[in-house]
Amino acid sequence: LSKIEIKLSDIPEGKNMTFKWRGKPLFVRHRTEKEIATEAAVNIGELRDPQHDKDRVINPSWVIVLGVCTHLGCVPIANAGDFGGYYCPCHGSHYDASGRIRKGPAPLNLEVPYYEFPDDDTVVVG
Ligand code: FES
Repeated sequence: LSKIEIKLSDIPEGKNMTFKWRGKPLFVRHRTEKEIATEAAVNIGELRDPQHDKDRVINPSWVIVLGVCTHLGCVPIANAGDFGGYYCPCHGSHYDASGRIRKGPAPLNLEVPYYEFPDDDTVVVG
């Protein structure tokens, strides 16, 4: 399937769920208020792949990224690592709760696919 439709009310706040989309893992993360505030306040001058959180999300409550480490393609673990976002155990890359690379060998942020919210409870990716 080229598109996937996900019901947002199935994903509690603070949780990251993994779906399969175009043969790859897709992460949908329902961020907490604290995570939203933390990521919005990051100084992008300190980032390896500088991107504002607001340029990576449509609605700050929801982070939608490919679950593919930009180092060599392992699947990172959610809610782990030094920045509380994702941790890739293959060679130790740490991502924040915006999916941005913060530490370790990965060169780039987790990729944000094209998506839209047709209504308040639905995201369509692809
Ligand atoms: Fe993720 Fe190497 S594949 S750190």
